[in-house]
Amino acid sequence: MSPLSGATGSQHAAILGIGGYRPSRVIPNSEVIAAIDSSDEWIQQRSGIRQRRWAAPHETVQMMSVDAARKAIDRAGISAEQIDCVIVATVSHMLQTPAVATAIAHELGTNKAAAFDISAACAGFCHGVALASDMVRGGSVGHALVIGVERLSDLTDLHDRGTAFIFADGAGAAVVGPSDEPRIGPVVWGSDGEQFDLIRQKEDWRDVVGTPDRPGTGTMPHLMMQGNPVFRWASYAMAKIGQQALDRAGVSIDDLDVFVPHQANMRIIDAMARSMKLPERVRIARDIAEQGNTSAASIPLALERMIDDGEARSGDTALLVAFGAGLAYAAQVVTVP
Ligand code: COA
Repeated sequence: MSPLSGATGSQHAAILGIGGYRPSRVIPNSEVIAAIDSSDEWIQQRSGIRQRRWAAPHETVQMMSVDAARKAIDRAGISAEQIDCVIVATVSHMLQTPAVATAIAHELGTNKAAAFDISAACAGFCHGVALASDMVRGGSVGHALVIGVERLSDLTDLHDRGTAFIFADGAGAAVVGPSDEPRIGPVVWGSDGEQFDLIRQKEDWRDVVGTPDRPGTGTMPHLMMQGNPVFRWASYAMAKIGQQALDRAGVSIDDLDVFVPHQANMRIIDAMARSMKLPERVRIARDIAEQGNTSAASIPLALERMIDDGEARSGDTALLVAFGAGLAYAAQVVTVP
């Protein structure tokens, strides 16, 4: 017989508080098209984006994260010392190591919480919520903080008409903790590495710096995207993932109040809603119009906006569906805090 005693956690987990940070610089389409051959009309028709926000120099990944996290912790009604783990989903922290999560945990005043970054691009926040929920239920933590944060303006080629109008900056955070009933449903997640090249950093760091036999490019390795195949994949396959998350949580469409898909393109959001046959009374997040695609931050920011606007109420049942580079995806049903 094993001499070890196992960890035991809370029977159930919940999102206890959500917070967001939106950078101060509002960038309308008219400013983006100055560097690309495009128009405000085309961008609005094809993506639904009217404006986005790009961070000013002082709005760093860490600064935006801490601000969003403080709001989430405050709304959860706990103190920073009660956070046992900080998970930061990001692809735009500019140091390969260490993780930005440790600096964030320290600045927040957690009691030396475990802290690490995860890289699952636009699906990162929902991956983090899944991990946090399992940690709470498994007994590894009392409370976990999940942050989705990006400064994609640092990684975007402002002269690339396929991406310049899409990507944006911001941070969203959620406190995950114990619950007396299930308020985070089972995750449905996966990846399709066959489509690894559809959205990716153009060059790796050795191509930038150079190797003994090859000179480097010496320029920022920007994000590149083959938009149309991603668009078709997301519109078709992600509705099925959303439906599977509902099924696994035992929630019927009739019990769903709120739909918060990754904010990548308004037409993808509409296609998913149509394909899932969502009734009109289900409120749908449409933060993309004002915020652009903030990757890992998009779902918590969109949910926060709905809560602030009274479109999502405490106790509502919400479906989250996230997808992006990898390709990677994750979806779960949660109760709105
Ligand atoms: N402005 C004006 N015209 C543009 C343009 C721009 N910024 N970008 C492309 N076009 C043109 C193309 O040249 C093409 O012209 P053509 O028909 O004369 O050849 C036409 O518009 C259609 O291009 P296409 O790439 O097929 O457009 P689309 O309908 O797929 O829309 C995106 C482009 C990027 C908006 C869309 O593909 C998309 O949102 N993809 C998914 C993004 C996403 O979900 N990312 C995942 C998570 S990060």
